[in-house]
Amino acid sequence: MPEMIVATKQNIEKVFDDNAKAYDRVGPAIYQHFGSRLVDWLSPEPGTKMLDIATGKGAVLLPAARLLKSNGHVTGIDLSAGLLQEADHSVHQEGLTNITLRKMDAEHLEFPDETFDCVTCAFSLFFFPHMEDALNEMYRVCKLGGRVAVTVFDQALPPFDPIFPVMLQQLGTYQGEVRIPPHGMSFTPEEIETLLRQHGFHSIMTHGEKEDFIYTNEKDVWAFLPLRLMLFGTDETTHAPFKHEFLTKLRPLFGPDGLHVSVAAIYAMGQR
Ligand SMILES: C[S@@+](CC[C@H](N)C(=O)[O-])C[C@H]1O[C@@H](n2cnc3c(N)ncnc32)[C@H](O)[C@@H]1O
Repeated sequence: MPEMIVATKQNIEKVFDDNAKAYDRVGPAIYQHFGSRLVDWLSPEPGTKMLDIATGKGAVLLPAARLLKSNGHVTGIDLSAGLLQEADHSVHQEGLTNITLRKMDAEHLEFPDETFDCVTCAFSLFFFPHMEDALNEMYRVCKLGGRVAVTVFDQALPPFDPIFPVMLQQLGTYQGEVRIPPHGMSFTPEEIETLLRQHGFHSIMTHGEKEDFIYTNEKDVWAFLPLRLMLFGTDETTHAPFKHEFLTKLRPLFGPDGLHVSVAAIYAMGQR
């Protein structure tokens, strides 16, 4: 019976720690693109006190801090110390002085009620085993009249198309079912709107955006983080043939300039 791969908090933390250097730096900077777009849309006002949940390498945190400069503050929290270290490196490199980074679980935020004017969370809700708790926490730490803004994968397109469909299909032959608990990875605009409403937010707006990115070589595709996440738990003997077969299947999909990968995102914003 093939073992089911379940993304638990422990293995999520480990996989992001282990891959912190390559994350969103090898291949196209996909999360950075969507992070900047979320900040553009949110357009935080001067003086804003902002929290970015599951900040990773700072795809939302950094553009928000650059925009606010000394007139505002951004706190980023994440489970992965490795990613926080990478974010901290960028903070120092850019000389940003309006950022605080803390290792913290999104489901248990260590902040008093109504601390922040804006709470953001990009491409991470599906990682939280108790997503409802995380959404309750987002509501709790957001000030009355403050705003929440999230980005999720749009169900209209498989994430990182065609990488994910090929990977999941092949992984099935190796490992059986793959599950990121307890919900799927993608949402419809109606689903994300309902989720925010159910957790107390109102005046919710959503919009979608699809972007194409190019991986110029196979090495970068393989280094692509979610692949490792899915493979977590497999041993090296399984890993090598998997890699070979996966790249063989993907190879015909490469064009002259590389592999075109599409990502469709939904942005949702609401008010507390
Ligand atoms: C796909 S990345 C997105 C990171 C960042 N928001 C971005 O847009 O690049 C998912 C992030 O969720 C973080 N994460 C997963 N579970 C978490 C939890 N329970 N609490 C805090 N962070 C978590 C991971 O460490 C990782 O940084």
